[in-house]
Amino acid sequence: MAFNKLDDLRERKQKIEAAGGAKRVEKQHAAGKLTARERINLLFDENTFVEIDAFVTHRCTNFGMESQELPAEGVITGYGKVDGRLVYAYAQDFTVSGGSLGEMHANKICKVLENALKVGAPVVGLNDSGGARIQEAVDALSGYGKIFFQNTIASGVIPQITAIMGPCAGGAVYSPALTDFIFMVDQTSQMFITGPQVIKTVTGEEVSAEALGGAMTHNSVSGVAHFMSANDEACIADIRRLLSFLPSNNLETAPVFECTDDINKIVEELNTIIPDNPNKPYDIIDVIRLIADHGDFEEVQPNFARNMVTGFIRINGQSIGIVANQPKVLAGCLDVNASDKAGRFIRTCDAFNIPLLNIVDVPGFLPGTAQEYGGIIRHGAKMLYAFSEATVPKVTLIVRKAYGGSYLAMCSKDLGADVVLAWPNAEIAVMGPQGAANIIFRNDIKDAEDPVVMRQQKIEEYTAEFATPYKAAERGFVDDVIEPSSTRPRLADAFDMLASKRESRPAKKHGNIPL
Ligand code: HXC
Repeated sequence: MAFNKLDDLRERKQKIEAAGGAKRVEKQHAAGKLTARERINLLFDENTFVEIDAFVTHRCTNFGMESQELPAEGVITGYGKVDGRLVYAYAQDFTVSGGSLGEMHANKICKVLENALKVGAPVVGLNDSGGARIQEAVDALSGYGKIFFQNTIASGVIPQITAIMGPCAGGAVYSPALTDFIFMVDQTSQMFITGPQVIKTVTGEEVSAEALGGAMTHNSVSGVAHFMSANDEACIADIRRLLSFLPSNNLETAPVFECTDDINKIVEELNTIIPDNPNKPYDIIDVIRLIADHGDFEEVQPNFARNMVTGFIRINGQSIGIVANQPKVLAGCLDVNASDKAGRFIRTCDAFNIPLLNIVDVPGFLPGTAQEYGGIIRHGAKMLYAFSEATVPKVTLIVRKAYGGSYLAMCSKDLGADVVLAWPNAEIAVMGPQGAANIIFRNDIKDAEDPVVMRQQKIEEYTAEFATPYKAAERGFVDDVIEPSSTRPRLADAFDMLASKRESRPAKKHGNIPL
């Protein structure tokens, strides 16, 4: 081969690697952000990234674009290994036309999604983009449309993870919203449909970009994001960790790690962790950590709907999805946001063959007009639907209260729980003793010589008779009442027994989950 052809190739590649030029790279660093290539290199195991489509160029001729070269079309795409497993990725390059999305930029992302789908590999998108490339008009819009379509086709087949690592407006937020998990970097990333300027013009409302769509806003208020990371490096490390809990696709199971934590461990602390007073709160995360291998818990959406805890642990090295009530927040009641959070998480686990462990301490649905007008019936139904639909192994552990509809919504036997275990202090009934006494013993209390004493007596009667796990166990709704200290070996055994579980549903185009 003529030497000048090799020189030419090297020169072309160098130009592409220089991205938007030293000045813009400097600006990117000054803003506390890494460049797209630096992010990609951090994401993949050393020397495993294979870039594709580096030579792709735009074909826009509007507004002087014909003379503008946009290296790699503003997005770096390819595949590589994360902890030795194949992963596809794209990283938008803010130093090239603000990472804006034109027709060919979109085609590159679609190719990543299509290829990843063919080989059954997760896709990680690192977003840093000013949105639709203004000069490309409808071609840019069409590009977004194609990505939305591919995200949807890939949904439930391969895990899709998005990180928001810069300003993302308009179309740039909807592709992430169609993926399974969204990470945001604190202070340097924002997501909004319409930015502060437009809001001010249309409604007169004044709001900063950070307050409107910053990482904390979407992690705690809107529930759009699942994770918040302190900076780019931490975000990429967090993505790598999340991938370790997920399978590569819907036909595989998550990787099983060698378990060096004693699986037969008797944890005495669990015998005393629940306060004697049923109205006293405690932190359910302490319970989760005492059950998990090495106390390791990857919480998903830790700042949103904190009355519901979702996340991943491992038991005997196997990835397990946790859905747990948090008595520390709103007494662990189910409400609109908690139902949305749990419903979505259950479906994610079911899509990717991750068994579910449901830890129940729930007094009921949160009462009030705000909840009823907010559609708690529609939202709460998502939990009933998601649990009933899920065919992965489902183990329910009732540690204290399990009342009324919320007992069912946390995956009772009737919703297909394969194993239901309860601790001896569990209370499983239609409602709590106080409420029950007021209704069924109303006349006894009214006619009593001393109604206060009578009421207390009836509450105690009801408590002794019904606020226990034994009525449910008598009917087989609870498989066993266990000593809390033996929970870890009992759960390990249950998941081991369920490893070969096969359950199918009638054929249908798709179900109609209440949205
Ligand atoms: C073309 C863009 C661009 C865009 C930024 N740039 N956004 N080029 N189309 N959408 C270019 C700038 O011209 C600049 O080029 C470089 O990127 C960096 O931008 P700056 O403005 O200098 O950076 P910064 O001050 O950090 O501000 C970043 C920003 C701002 C907040 C993202 O650029 C911005 O507001 N951009 C427009 C955002 C937007 O409204 N997008 C359209 C959304 S609507 P040079 O050459 O100077 O480096 C949409 C519709 C799709 O997406 C809907 C589908 C459902």
